[in-house]
Amino acid sequence: SRPVKIAPSLLAADFARLGEEIAAIEAAGADWLHLDIMDGHFVPNISYGPAVVKALRPHTRLPFDVHLMISPADPLLPAFAEAGAERISLHPEAGPHLHRSLQTIRALGCSPGVVLNPATPAALVEPVLDLVDLILVMTVNPGFGGQKFIPSQLPKMRELRRMIDASGRQIALQVDGGVTAETAPLCLEAGADVLVAGTAVFGAPDYAAAIATLRAGRA
Ligand code: DX5
Ligand code: ZN
Repeated sequence: SRPVKIAPSLLAADFARLGEEIAAIEAAGADWLHLDIMDGHFVPNISYGPAVVKALRPHTRLPFDVHLMISPADPLLPAFAEAGAERISLHPEAGPHLHRSLQTIRALGCSPGVVLNPATPAALVEPVLDLVDLILVMTVNPGFGGQKFIPSQLPKMRELRRMIDASGRQIALQVDGGVTAETAPLCLEAGADVLVAGTAVFGAPDYAAAIATLRAGRA
């Protein structure tokens, strides 16, 4: 079985104590820090921007996994790269030129990812498979933490796992939204290898236990 990475989503952290929250999840065994960027336009909510990401950078050694839910995304890509993002993922619906946006992310020295909304088909990533290091399957409609997992996305995960394996490239298959001790095993079984979790980590009394449970993939 492939190694599993856990990427806690800072969206569910205590926003008044972000530095402490990041230190706590790093100590608890998190692999990446998932940073949800929302603009109130592409999604019906606003979170935080590059200035906050930059302020957090000195507080942890965890790789910054930036999930852009903004449109247009292109004008802000340099700001997130400069803020210290290792990975930048965006939605194909965020702009007219997905291929160019992914090339720009790479040219900025970051690792590009593409994010599929629940209604967006797997086939959409096929023409850009050579450009991405990560494919993120949304298992909720983006915009808010704490929503219910959409199980109809599991066949799409399996399809993407087959596509990735056939490509021969190292591409992470990430899942985001409603990932809990109950749904994590379904995602791992469907081929995901990076689990994003907000509520299931930051809403738990013991971050280390929550991360270990998700990683073990047993309900
Ligand atoms: C939703 C975000 C998620 C969210 C996940 O738009 O992309 O990363 O924080 O939250 P939970 O794990 O609570 O569903
Ligand atoms: Zn996210």
